[in-house]
Amino acid sequence: MELSEKTFLKFLNEPNLELTETTELSAEEMGELYIYSALLSTIMGFLKEQLWLSDKEDLVNNIETTYEEFINKFLLKELKPLGFLEDFLIKSGASEIKTLKKSSLLIEKKVLSLIMNRSPMEQKTFLIHALKDMSKKFLKEESDQEGFAQNLGHQGLRLYRTFDGLDKIFKLDYQLDLDMDVDYHEKERIYQSGGVGVQSGYSTILLSLDAIEVKSGDLIVDLGSGYGRVGLVYALLRPDTQSIGYEFVPHRVQVANEASELFELSESLNFKTQDLSLESFKIPEAAVYYMYDPFTEDTYKYVLDQIVAFSQKRKLTIVTKGNGSKWLDRVASENHWPAPKVLDEGNLCIYHSSK
Ligand SMILES: C[S@@+](CC[C@H](N)C(=O)[O-])C[C@H]1O[C@@H](n2cnc3c(N)ncnc32)[C@H](O)[C@@H]1O
Repeated sequence: MELSEKTFLKFLNEPNLELTETTELSAEEMGELYIYSALLSTIMGFLKEQLWLSDKEDLVNNIETTYEEFINKFLLKELKPLGFLEDFLIKSGASEIKTLKKSSLLIEKKVLSLIMNRSPMEQKTFLIHALKDMSKKFLKEESDQEGFAQNLGHQGLRLYRTFDGLDKIFKLDYQLDLDMDVDYHEKERIYQSGGVGVQSGYSTILLSLDAIEVKSGDLIVDLGSGYGRVGLVYALLRPDTQSIGYEFVPHRVQVANEASELFELSESLNFKTQDLSLESFKIPEAAVYYMYDPFTEDTYKYVLDQIVAFSQKRKLTIVTKGNGSKWLDRVASENHWPAPKVLDEGNLCIYHSSK
């Protein structure tokens, strides 16, 4: 068993034990500890609901499912990335589900506050390691076509908000959205007070990065980049690519650029304040465009016309999250592009132009 696994188990077994600065853990081990705790707290919340459903079903069918039978089903799938906890979870029993959710949340919080006291470069190592570990843990299942990641969406276990704690390290301050003045005649969808709710989940961003198959030197453009999560994750995991995020709301751009500078990513990652609907502005030619529900109808048309013109000269990839696929399906069909790769229960679509 790895040190981070042993440490996690130790803290779950002895919830009163203090995780302190003196606990000798490297930034990498803390990254793993973060993933385990964030995953376990989400999964325990899910299991609580599943147990309730299973008890109800037992009552209707007049049978009795033992806790071991119940948990075994989840050990084969949702709990697979935490396989090292198997014996512990079987032993702890149904009555501990709520407590385990609470203790893993506590561990998660503590790990985050400990890493916040370390240097930015250690935080960077933590982030890279946590993101890679996360990716390995649920993308592995995605390749089996029936695992974990297929359920990132609306049914089953949802990991969409599981790793939001990483925002603390990136210092993404959504309070600025709550304080912002809004011109209600504004034509664009700027998501006043949108905050964390309108940023792509870290799980979704990792799924998309795995699916786009970027090459070294490729340019990736996030159209409507919000607080910059997409670019930050891509730049940390693929420092050999270039990323630009264009965003309408200046304070979001500023926060994103500060995170990029803090982790010394500015050579490959920049955010710019830009209204993409302005005809005076042309988007750059890129290998990948990421669009999470940014625009009004007119802006979609304006931006997509530019992308289609680039697609006559080169092969490119477009990632849509949310409703953007409605526009891209039309573009793909008009231009005879292959069908998109659909992930996360249709929430994430990857289009490749045919050139
Ligand atoms: C749903 S958020 C997505 C943020 C980010 N791409 C992500 O996936 O985490 C869409 C963003 O597009 C921005 N946006 C809307 N219209 C825009 C425009 N015309 N030009 C630039 N950004 C725009 C909004 O302000 C908002 O921050």
